Amino acid sequence: MPVPLTDNLPADALSHWKKITREWDGDRRALVQFQQRFDLVYPTLRRLFSEIYGDRPDVAEQLDELLALAARSYTERSADLIALDRQREENPHWFESGEMLGGVCYVDRYAKNLDGVRQKIPYFRELGLTYLHLMPLFLAPEPHSDGGYAVSSYREVNPILGDMATLRQLATELRAAGISLVVDFVFNHTSNEHEWARRAIAGDREYEDYYRIFPDRQLPDVYEKTVREIFPDDHPGSFVQLPDGRWIWATFYHFQWDLNYANPAVFRAMAGEMLFLANQGIEILRMDAAAFIWKQLGTRCESLPQAHTIIRAFNAVCRLAAPSLLFKSEAIVHPDEVMQYIDPAECQLSYNPLQMALIWESLATRQVSLLTQALDRRHTIPEGTTWVNYVRSHDDIGWTFSDEDAAAVGINGYDHRRFLNAFYVNRFDGSFARGVPFQENPRTGDARVAGTTASLCGLEQDAPFAIHRILLTHSIALSTGGIPLIYLGDEVGQLNDYGYIDDPKHAKDSRWVNRPPLPAQRYADRHDLSTSAGMTYAGLHRLIELRRATPEFAGGRLIGFHTNNQHILGYQRPGESSVVLVLANFDEADHLVSAETLAGFAPDALDLISGKPRQLDAGVRLGPYEFTWLRVTPGR
Ligand code: GLC
Ligand code: GLC
Repeated sequence: MPVPLTDNLPADALSHWKKITREWDGDRRALVQFQQRFDLVYPTLRRLFSEIYGDRPDVAEQLDELLALAARSYTERSADLIALDRQREENPHWFESGEMLGGVCYVDRYAKNLDGVRQKIPYFRELGLTYLHLMPLFLAPEPHSDGGYAVSSYREVNPILGDMATLRQLATELRAAGISLVVDFVFNHTSNEHEWARRAIAGDREYEDYYRIFPDRQLPDVYEKTVREIFPDDHPGSFVQLPDGRWIWATFYHFQWDLNYANPAVFRAMAGEMLFLANQGIEILRMDAAAFIWKQLGTRCESLPQAHTIIRAFNAVCRLAAPSLLFKSEAIVHPDEVMQYIDPAECQLSYNPLQMALIWESLATRQVSLLTQALDRRHTIPEGTTWVNYVRSHDDIGWTFSDEDAAAVGINGYDHRRFLNAFYVNRFDGSFARGVPFQENPRTGDARVAGTTASLCGLEQDAPFAIHRILLTHSIALSTGGIPLIYLGDEVGQLNDYGYIDDPKHAKDSRWVNRPPLPAQRYADRHDLSTSAGMTYAGLHRLIELRRATPEFAGGRLIGFHTNNQHILGYQRPGESSVVLVLANFDEADHLVSAETLAGFAPDALDLISGKPRQLDAGVRLGPYEFTWLRVTPGR
């Protein structure tokens, strides 16, 4: 049943296509659909593939196998998912809607298992979620699992959590509730107990080439001259020694071995795992540790051009065989580099680590200059992409602002990071925050901070204004544009969990302080306004509903607004015929945005938070940590 190809495809497409049609075992309608995709995607995929692997003699053969894999995977895609593909293609901007709201949790800690997550769907709806990121849930052997990020099989669910059929069922039920399921694609490394890893150290040549193994320290020593240390508490540098004396690349923990993407078989194998996940009903993949996937001697081995080419090639494979699948970039790196991953042809979604870090920076300093500058200079991203704005994640907070940006507002980056670390780990007099240091590196003076939102805001010791700070931080993530992402439990003000110290599996990784089990009592109290959980939840829930009802907050467009007050952050969110002006006071004293500063707007504004009119011609005074969303009309 040959289907003719369009004539404008390169000649080599034909031979690949013939093979695909010969081996096709799906129905003819699906073949016609697949052919349309092939026509569209083939030129891109071929170009990317040869950019990476072009100098290998077997490049055509490798591409052939990749295409065959994509075709097989497409025939296995369920009718539901094919319908979803169509729906997403008809509405490609779906994820830019102002209704989008994300939540993230560990399956075991939050809900015991996948069935428990299903039972939480009514709560997710109460909160307004449309996006649920479940932390890694595939096989990852304890005690060396890095919270699931050391995967030993991408096709098996950790049996404690459930099985693949339950995951598929959960994805379907979530979708029916309007919630897209997000999971990690841990594609930079595998666990040392992955089948590929076992074979590699058993001397199987084919699998040795899946990793980066060196006979001695010669090359590792050269690499380490330019590569930074990520988990120095675990092992110095980026290599660990194998029992036979050889050295293997391990950027993160010693049991997480980096894959060798210079080998096209690795790309193909991981493309297979990716499509498998897509066919279970996963809608968004969080591209874990994306910056690290390509290595080259004499470089930092982070965010190299080939890393982008590889992600683009994965993306092209999706367009071919799992078209509705989207990528979210996890690149917690310099802001210039974060930007490089954000592209409709690469990662359509990206964490916004700069905004996250600068929210905390502004809280500590009570000054908004860096955050204002970031919104001016670094907020705009390409059409067809969106930020994922968050207050904190399951990881540490790193101060990833650029030193040049800091210098431009008179701040010394190095000193400032030291101050911020001291402030958030309670080594600074008068700090409200209760955080814990993560990966302090005495050699470089580097460190990061761990802690839940509430503890970092002062709720743990009942510091004045703690709840104000929790609401303020979330109000920024909810209103700058993009998908706000809540670390579930933070909406009821969950506190640090120091219990990790007594668990030998976690004792050495202080990030567990900010991964507490579900705070059951706080959830039970969430409608009781006499409790801190209730006040936090009520405040946040209202903001979520307000945001949903505010069309100006959809999409990502933002126009800077300088308040002429160093403590008050300002920005404008333009809608079709009106603008919402956001003003947020980061200090614990009252501050004023003067009438002159607001002179560009008509005097009558609507305060969306109180629902009452507000006159701008007397200026806007904000109480401690108060913020306001004002619908204004530009021009007088
Ligand atoms: C990502 C995860 C982090 C993990 C690391 C290694 O950065 O967020 O938790 O330790 O990757 O997979
Ligand atoms: C580093 C990495 C980041 C990772 C984090 C884990 O900051 O750049 O990708 O999430 O470590 O803690």
